[in-house]
Amino acid sequence: MRSPEPSLPAPARLVVVALLLAALTGGAVGVDGYGRARRLHMKNKVLEMFYHAYDNYMTYAFPHDELKPLTKSFTDSLSELGNLNLEHLPQDYNGSALTLVESLSSLVVLGNFTEFERGILWLSENLTFDVDARINLFECNIRLLGGLISAHLLAKDYSSQRKDGLYHDQLLHLADSLGNRFLPAFETPTGLPYAWINLKYGVMENETTETSTHQGVVGGSLILEMGVLSRLTGDSRYEAAALRALRKLWSMRSSLNLVGTTLDVFTGKWIEYSSGIGAGVYSFYEYLIKTYILFGSDEYWDMFHSAYLAVQKYFRHGPWYHDADMRTGEATHWQLTSHQAFWPGLQF
Ligand SMILES: *[C@@H]1O[C@H](CO)[C@@H](O)[C@H](O)[C@H]1NC(C)=O
Ligand SMILES: *[C@@H]1O[C@H](CO)[C@@H](O)[C@H](O)[C@H]1NC(C)=O
Ligand SMILES: *[C@@H]1O[C@H](CO)[C@@H](O)[C@H](O)[C@H]1NC(C)=O
Ligand SMILES: *[C@@H]1O[C@H](CO)[C@@H](O)[C@H](O)[C@H]1NC(C)=O
Repeated sequence: MRSPEPSLPAPARLVVVALLLAALTGGAVGVDGYGRARRLHMKNKVLEMFYHAYDNYMTYAFPHDELKPLTKSFTDSLSELGNLNLEHLPQDYNGSALTLVESLSSLVVLGNFTEFERGILWLSENLTFDVDARINLFECNIRLLGGLISAHLLAKDYSSQRKDGLYHDQLLHLADSLGNRFLPAFETPTGLPYAWINLKYGVMENETTETSTHQGVVGGSLILEMGVLSRLTGDSRYEAAALRALRKLWSMRSSLNLVGTTLDVFTGKWIEYSSGIGAGVYSFYEYLIKTYILFGSDEYWDMFHSAYLAVQKYFRHGPWYHDADMRTGEATHWQLTSHQAFWPGLQF
């Protein structure tokens, strides 16, 4: 794999050297004084925190979407995610066990296969997406579809080591059913998807055509999950729809190779030209590099590389990144936002 340019900045190189040293010394003492006992202690702390959250969700909220820890109650948040003003909330939606789906891969990482199996069995018998709820495509993709697909891959690995035959691709069938419900969102003149769909009825007649780059770019940010779903099911429609949207979005970049943050999926025109690496657009960069790593196609690398160089040239100011107008590269907002924090991870 080609290494990203420009080459690693000095602090990143130091970390690499430190990690190499740690590996050479057998990791007896980690880079920052984490000896064996301390690491064991921290590991148990992580386990404790996970089970605190998980068990309380299962006790007070399951099968609703999320736990409200202070009131020990629940919220069916799938229709609230990305919905800042909490508009058009469903009247008759009782949750999709969202937190359970999102926890499945953690259960495997923590070695709890009993609970993992229990979760899979519950979901395969009880989860349905035939619900009258308006959801945000981007959020539903990263959480539910992504959660189901990763858990499916882990379940496949696990069941291949066992003979009891409990796993029959149930999670993949659920992912397929969900992916199918995403497809109507892509039926726009540009191929860029609506940001919102109703899981049961598809796109509503009065639905907004406005979307943010990462949501609409769902084109950009659906390609990972929908690409994997196509490869696992053999149904090419998912990857094709997401790739078409991504290519359309990339064709809308400015002469500086920058994209905006909000656009109209019907006209294919930008609504907000001010852009950066934070909310509304961050996942565009994140998904390009991840998709390249996963699928290895040069097309993703070329897009990522051009987009990355433009970010370094127009948004970077010393160690910080500000927002700038995609047409001129002139700074717009001098602000640091939480979503930007992923950038060093992407560079590493
Ligand atoms: C569409 O119209 C219906 C009926 O008036 C309304 O309940 C719903 O909230 C509207 N949806 C949007 C996205 O405007
Ligand atoms: C949601 O829960 C309420 C209250 O228990 C119930 O009346 C309703 O039928 C449920 N709706 C669905 C779609 O399951
Ligand atoms: C798995 O999780 C369940 C639920 O929290 C717990 O009761 C059980 O002890 C865990 N098993 C292991 C091996 O950690
Ligand atoms: C499905 O849900 C019902 C009602 O909560 C429950 O009784 C049943 O055990 C669940 N199925 C599985 C396989 O856990």
